[in-house]
Amino acid sequence: MCGIIGYTGRRPAGPIILDGLRRLEYRGYDSAGIALFGDHQDFYVAHATGKLDALIQRVEGTLPPAIAGLGHTRWATHGEPADRNAHPQLDPDGRIAVVHNGIIENFEVLRRKYARGPFRSETDTEVLAHMLAGRIERGEDLLDAVRAVAAEATGAYSLIAVDATDPGRLVAARIGNAGGIVVGVGEHENLAASDLNALLPHTRQVVFVEPGEFADIRAEGVRYVDAAGQDLVKTPETLPYDPVAAVKGPYKHFMQKEIFEQPGAVLDVMRGRYFPDGHVDMSDGVPFDAAWARQITRVVLVGMGTSMHSAMIGRHYMERFARIPAEVDNAAEFRYRRPVLDKHTLVISIAQSGETVDTLAAMDEARRAGCPQITICNTPGAQTTRVADGTLLMRVGPEIAVASTKTMLASMLLLHGLSLYLGRLRGTLDPTAEAEQVRAALQLPRAVGEVLEAAGHVEAIAAKYAQVEDFLFLGRGLGFPIALEGALKLKEVSYIHAEGYAAGEMKHGPIALIDERMPTLAIAPRDEVFDKMRSNIEQVRARRGEVIAMVSQGDHSLDGIASDIIELPEIDPILAPFVSVVPLQLLAYYIATERGADVDQPRNLAKTVVVE
Ligand code: F6R
Repeated sequence: MCGIIGYTGRRPAGPIILDGLRRLEYRGYDSAGIALFGDHQDFYVAHATGKLDALIQRVEGTLPPAIAGLGHTRWATHGEPADRNAHPQLDPDGRIAVVHNGIIENFEVLRRKYARGPFRSETDTEVLAHMLAGRIERGEDLLDAVRAVAAEATGAYSLIAVDATDPGRLVAARIGNAGGIVVGVGEHENLAASDLNALLPHTRQVVFVEPGEFADIRAEGVRYVDAAGQDLVKTPETLPYDPVAAVKGPYKHFMQKEIFEQPGAVLDVMRGRYFPDGHVDMSDGVPFDAAWARQITRVVLVGMGTSMHSAMIGRHYMERFARIPAEVDNAAEFRYRRPVLDKHTLVISIAQSGETVDTLAAMDEARRAGCPQITICNTPGAQTTRVADGTLLMRVGPEIAVASTKTMLASMLLLHGLSLYLGRLRGTLDPTAEAEQVRAALQLPRAVGEVLEAAGHVEAIAAKYAQVEDFLFLGRGLGFPIALEGALKLKEVSYIHAEGYAAGEMKHGPIALIDERMPTLAIAPRDEVFDKMRSNIEQVRARRGEVIAMVSQGDHSLDGIASDIIELPEIDPILAPFVSVVPLQLLAYYIATERGADVDQPRNLAKTVVVE
């Protein structure tokens, strides 16, 4: 994972690198480092283990004037979090500095072959500095050296390298699908970073570096070449993003802010796609016509984590509205089981970051099989959007907290809209049913807002259960993926062991765990499976388990049975996941804050998962 940034220009590089690291910190926060280059051959370098604040404290008052710099925030893969393993990594003579994101798979072989002295770290990165130094010493140009090293170092990664004898020049490379490199084009200055967040305060003019491309960056211009050294013409794109969206505002945490942004987020998703006259138009992400839609025989939805849970909801929508057989696959499993695919299989991938390596690998598999592909993503220009035939952008602004919240609602809604749209194109959905769904979806901002108004009630429930060590989440039908998501959120941010189950499965094993110390959250809105959920709740109670029941507004049938009740606002039952997932996000958030956990940056996690 990791976040990398480089700057070259006329402004002092130090503060720009540190601010960029703050914006990239969500990618990894085991350790951080900075290197600054001035008009002299030595350069300043500092590392610190732990969060970025440790580095900021360490460098305070010591940053030299500099015309260029590199920064890195680490999510450890090779070598424990420690100063010696933090980047930038240097060659033994301290001439070459490298920041790197991703994995060099053959680094052990390379270390044996190219060591120019003892290695100071256990990282796979350090050998890149040794290899580059060897080539530079033999008179090779830095860009050529980076290309040659990248040809030998296998894996998926990105890097930025600087030679201290030519300090205003950064060379960036992107190899394979791991981690992006975006160049930010400024006036007499240029930057490169893992993602847009770090660039937004400086420029909206960006160039996405594709896998196999290299950028030779100086303050006055950037040259792009391919692996063979051939020049590439790349024109900057102008970003629509609002940099203000990346600050916390009045909220204590980004997770809290992003949960509370959800009524607006669903509106943003629907704008220009859901129309009050009762139709949807998803053509911005579906570059195909009705004849094509009628030829689809199967839909495969792929994603990881929360995105996979959205996909599970999407499967229901796809079958119900578009009447296409639909399957969901964990992207990491999909790619290795030689799936049967053909050109009539529509592959829909979901990745808020657009950089998740497993999802990209699944998409590559689908591309090889000739499948048409639509991707759902929140990051304009991300790698998934470059592979898919069509992209449905979430347009909900950056999600900074590691735990996904608003992007889950956005992806579920896009899958709802896409299913309606395909249903219309295929003639499987009549206009009245489409209009009913559109009208129901237009109620979502109100309904999600009502859930948030009752956040205080969820906070009180969270306080009651904050010290338990195990939690069970049960749901049926559309409630099942939400049970999985509730358990995932709780695990991630509070470190409580939690399991999500299809409620019918409970009797087949999990029931053995239930006692007074393991509460169960039951998702039990008034739908066709309500009576079954009620039986499950009774079974938990019979074993002295406490139950928190989420029920439809005004349903008192579980009063006196469940220990705590959360009422869900009225909404079309098909859209119930949108209102039932929000209390679970709140529950996880409040329990985590009650336990003093680091909500936005949970241990061991990173926002964008670009390693397998
Ligand atoms: C959960 C969470 C992760 C991500 C997963 C996929 O809160 O954030 O499980 O959902 O890493 O990320 P994307 O959507 O970027 O592919």
